[in-house]
Amino acid sequence: MSSKKGRVSLRGIRKVFGDFEALKGIDLEIEPVEFFALLGPSGSGKSTTLRVIAGLETPDAGTMTVDGKDVTYAQPGERDVAMVFQNYALYPHMTLEANIGFPLKMDGVPKHEIPAMVREAAAKVTIDHLLHRRPGQLSGGQQQRCALARAIVRQPKLFLLDEPLSNLDAQLRLETRVELKKLQRDLDVTTIYVTHDQEEAMTLADRMAVFLDGTIAQIGTPEDVFNRPTNIAVAAFIGSPPMNLIDGHVEGKTVSVGDYHIKLAKQPGHAGKVVVGVRPSHISLSGKGLPANLYLSENLGEGMLLNFNVGDNLIKVRLPEVRRFADNESVNLAFEPGHIHLFDPESGNRIEF
Ligand SMILES: Nc1ncnc2c1ncn2[C@@H]1O[C@H](COP(=O)(O)OP(=O)(O)O)[C@@H](O)[C@H]1O
Ligand SMILES: [Mg+2]
Repeated sequence: MSSKKGRVSLRGIRKVFGDFEALKGIDLEIEPVEFFALLGPSGSGKSTTLRVIAGLETPDAGTMTVDGKDVTYAQPGERDVAMVFQNYALYPHMTLEANIGFPLKMDGVPKHEIPAMVREAAAKVTIDHLLHRRPGQLSGGQQQRCALARAIVRQPKLFLLDEPLSNLDAQLRLETRVELKKLQRDLDVTTIYVTHDQEEAMTLADRMAVFLDGTIAQIGTPEDVFNRPTNIAVAAFIGSPPMNLIDGHVEGKTVSVGDYHIKLAKQPGHAGKVVVGVRPSHISLSGKGLPANLYLSENLGEGMLLNFNVGDNLIKVRLPEVRRFADNESVNLAFEPGHIHLFDPESGNRIEF
């Protein structure tokens, strides 16, 4: 039905609610057939952006095109988009068959063609044996699949999902995540996926935009965002727990945190005060390093999360194994030089080296 495209371009999108600016100028280029995540904390503007893409909100400034065509003010029905909401938004009085077939009926698809299309979409999410039931007779996971089937039955150009897994329990969320990824590959459709869960964004997305306070702080592949956060705000958000951010100093190739000096392979393009970023998994407890006292250890089953006091800072370290520590045990924290990030304390921006 659709021509297997779906390149989305947003330029300077602003959205104001009363005197609150929810979107402060969003620029995005989403490639055809890409799985693109909008990731950010609650209230950062992800759903508003998705609703602008769907045509459910009209922007106060900016333009949106799909495959080069301006659709900024187009009605939702003119956009060839399908959306899945967090609460599924199924019609409770209709069977699954009628729910899934509803968009086809609205599109004026001939009546006799609908059952086969419904069955095919339902089979893709393995609920084709439940078509005679109503939503209230289904588990949460099955309702979620029904919402997916209803979205894919029309083979839309854009597949939009707003936190579709957040009402499922943890186990089911992990299973459904895998299936969703397979489904999207199978469908070959541009998918824009809103989530506040970075693990979902990292595992599902080809690329992602990190939303903070109504702006996009970074756009890139999951690897880009994880390995090269563009500023302190992104660094403080990505990772679980996120990287430690510690005041330091650079002179030549040497980074110093207190009396602990680390030699870098290359000289950063910046000298003087810096913020040193290091992930909890990139710190080892060794003979030489930054003196620290254990504040609290957490046993994760697979490994440990250790919290150390270093002056006024709390530094988190992830150990791959579980071992015993004395209360308040003194250790030295050694940072892996190849895994250090540096940020300008004034601008917050990443310093390359
Ligand atoms: N219809 C609305 N009226 C007033 N404020 C809104 C409306 N929709 C969203 N907002 C506000 O805009 C901000 C961004 O909301 P939203 O895009 O839903 O965030 P997210 O999906 O990232 O959690 C929030 O502060 C929210 O309260
Ligand atoms: Mg939201």
